[in-house]
Amino acid sequence: MKKDPVIWCCALIFLVLQGVANADEFRFKGGDEDEGKIAFERLNCIQCHRVTGVELEDPKTERVLNLSLAGEIRFVKSYTDILLAITNPQHVVTTQYSGLLSKAELDGEIEPFMPDLSQDMSAAQLIDLAAFLDSVYSKNLAEYRAMVKR
Ligand code: HEC
Repeated sequence: MKKDPVIWCCALIFLVLQGVANADEFRFKGGDEDEGKIAFERLNCIQCHRVTGVELEDPKTERVLNLSLAGEIRFVKSYTDILLAITNPQHVVTTQYSGLLSKAELDGEIEPFMPDLSQDMSAAQLIDLAAFLDSVYSKNLAEYRAMVKR
């Protein structure tokens, strides 16, 4: 029987892509979930975010937005996405969010984006925040868990 080269090519491409998809994701070593929760409050993430299933302090200043994290999959689907969302937040705008923002915000009269808080946080806080959110996303969302390779 003659082997069809197209099938072999497809099989090879499939295997390569699978290897890429399963490649170990970069993760910081360490990270303390409890410290991450504290950092989440101290850095005032609570001004704009709740975290589904987690009790957090009320923000000291007025609540700006009410975006729940880890309740549904939006931008964040992996640990890497958590790091990206925190350190490079402006690229996270998704259509789902535009529904939450007022017309003035969408027209750019009020800054709708998440501020760049990486200026204000230590590396330890970033690693702890990522550990905290990673654990909540893993607990709450099967689609996130599917991405996580431990
Ligand atoms: C001033 C409001 C504000 C503050 C403060 C804020 N965020 Fe955000 N955050 C947003 C908005 C708005 C988005 C949606 C994306 C966008 O428009 O940039 C977002 C998105 C995110 C996402 C992506 C969620 C997803 O899957 O779509 C994560 C994770 C996140 N923020 C974490 C944090 C953390 C951690 C802090 C504190 C260090 C923080 N945020 C502080 C407004 C804020």
